[in-house]
Amino acid sequence: MTSQISCHFPKGFLWGTATSAHQTEGNNLNDWSIWEPGKTVDGSVSGIACDSYHHFREDIGLAKKLNNNAYRFSIEWSRIEPRQGQFNTKALRHYQAVINECLKQKIEPVVTIHHFTHPLWFSAIGGWENQAAPQIFNNYVLYLAQNITGVKIWCTINEPMLYAWNAYGRGKWPPQKKNLGTWQQVLNNLIKAHCLAYQTLHLINKKCLVGIANNSQYFKPINNNWLNKEINKIAKYIINDYFFKKTAGYEDYIGINYYFYKLIGLGRRPPDNLLRNDLGWPINPYGLYDVLISAKKYNLPIYILENGIADSQDKYRANFIIEHLKMVYQAIQNGCNIKGYFYWSLLDNFEWDKGFVPRFGLYTVDYPSLKRKPRPSSKIYATICKNNGL
Ligand code: GAL
Repeated sequence: MTSQISCHFPKGFLWGTATSAHQTEGNNLNDWSIWEPGKTVDGSVSGIACDSYHHFREDIGLAKKLNNNAYRFSIEWSRIEPRQGQFNTKALRHYQAVINECLKQKIEPVVTIHHFTHPLWFSAIGGWENQAAPQIFNNYVLYLAQNITGVKIWCTINEPMLYAWNAYGRGKWPPQKKNLGTWQQVLNNLIKAHCLAYQTLHLINKKCLVGIANNSQYFKPINNNWLNKEINKIAKYIINDYFFKKTAGYEDYIGINYYFYKLIGLGRRPPDNLLRNDLGWPINPYGLYDVLISAKKYNLPIYILENGIADSQDKYRANFIIEHLKMVYQAIQNGCNIKGYFYWSLLDNFEWDKGFVPRFGLYTVDYPSLKRKPRPSSKIYATICKNNGL
């Protein structure tokens, strides 16, 4: 097998899978769990989800079976700080146990501090609209920094641009506001929150790596019309670069989540022959290359913190992974300092406003029994991870 490898990845490359707390843990009480009834596309609520809160050892074992040497998961703020300023030591011990289990299995824990959800008290005081939000978030970060051990790589905020847009710009996610002024205010507070968190985490541990995960998209103008090209540039700047530019000096790495390819501009959309995932999203591996090459300008290490496909029949997943990884390899050959790749997701889980129907997992979850089973594509990913290449 080894002799057939033509794309050797750098030594020490992190091969991982990713999840988030609310999507997998079950029994969370936060702004999403309150909002979900009657709001999700398939009518489901997160409920017990994958019950990963109790199955975490098994789940980390599943990552180990994939030969992963890294696992990305998130800490649920509402568990750690159920009331403002009151921290729950039982929850803290739980997340420390998750980290310890990773370390025991020689898996690097990559820990996200904010992945879309909020304690109810935070929402009640206006959430990210509140001018004090960055400082309030920082109190939670400080508590983690002072009490959690064994984490070298932190991701402060998952997809701040996408979150702010979905929750305050287009009004799709809680608190469902549609106001560009509020959106801008929330964005500013998220930027401040990240910079504060960056300083706090480094104050306690100088050597840790701190960054965010940006939902970076591959944009192409619909045609060569100059206006469309300009609109394309603006979209690219806002979605892919704005947060990084505003937090320059406060990022140790560039975290990229790649899912989307979008044709931008006015006019008729030329047809494409791209395959589509179960959610209708076109599959465009080249877009990952484009996004990576464009992130080279930051001169920082790059982690692909999410890349994955909703594919319940597992028809395209293996090929999806291979084709995207070829692009990652190409980007490395062309000078990108890429340090890791995390497939989204380790297992099927609660896909936010879409409910449980989309299936992103390398492992299926049979929700009634909570049994996890490997999909065929997981074998392919496991081999790639084992060989550090493909
Ligand atoms: C990302 C998000 C994940 C997951 C994924 C699949 O935007 O960070 O939580 O939902 O999309 O759609």
